[in-house]
Amino acid sequence: MTQDNSSSFPPGTFRRQDETPDSEFYHHPRFVTHIDDAAIAAVTQLYREYFPANSTLLDLMSSWVSHLPAEVPYPRVVGVGMNEKELRANPRLAEYVVQDLNQQPTLPFPDNTFDGAAICVSIDYLTQPVAVLRELARVLRPNAPLVVTFSNRCFPSKAVAAWHALDDRGHLALVQQYLQAAGHWHAIKLLDRSPAPRRSDPLFVVIGQVDKPELVQPE
Ligand SMILES: C[S@@+](CC[C@H](N)C(=O)[O-])C[C@H]1O[C@@H](n2cnc3c(N)ncnc32)[C@H](O)[C@@H]1O
Repeated sequence: MTQDNSSSFPPGTFRRQDETPDSEFYHHPRFVTHIDDAAIAAVTQLYREYFPANSTLLDLMSSWVSHLPAEVPYPRVVGVGMNEKELRANPRLAEYVVQDLNQQPTLPFPDNTFDGAAICVSIDYLTQPVAVLRELARVLRPNAPLVVTFSNRCFPSKAVAAWHALDDRGHLALVQQYLQAAGHWHAIKLLDRSPAPRRSDPLFVVIGQVDKPELVQPE
């Protein structure tokens, strides 16, 4: 399930201004938040809705914060990200893996490990998003949700060219296209969960559920 379908995107789609290894850019920890408190609250609310208590979760492209609801227990949250110091400081993570997904999109987990996954304000940095999303479908259980959130800011030098070429609606359509190209995703929803008043950071969401009918047990 790791074959890349990025050939369905035009040449240059995944080029970046800074093509140096991501390990250099993420070498120093950044103990900051990348969206404001209202947008973070909107992310947390989505997690409340999509990730039931006691789910085993994967926080992909994780840092020192996962934005999970403080009152909901999740005994096993696994983070994958680039900076070891950030991941070690994240109080919600039971485990973490430092891995450059642009170098190695294969996830180091067995099939059907997780009940849900999140990618928060980070999908714009993936140069092989289709391969990563295909891997996510493999490591998630049938029908498990993936919640992808993003706003209107980024590290410009590290975001792919397609992200720069598109507006907010275009970003929603692009992430939907990633999921469709990856296969194994259904019930794809595109949402605008921007907090009111509009002075805060906007918050856009793409949700998909894993489509592995061959693995769903008959009732
Ligand atoms: C803007 S931060 C967002 C962090 C966190 N998800 C949050 O909501 O605050 C981008 C994150 O993407 C991760 N990231 C960027 N490039 C990556 C790559 N090539 N492989 C794995 N993770 C990556 C970084 O480690 C960083 O934590």
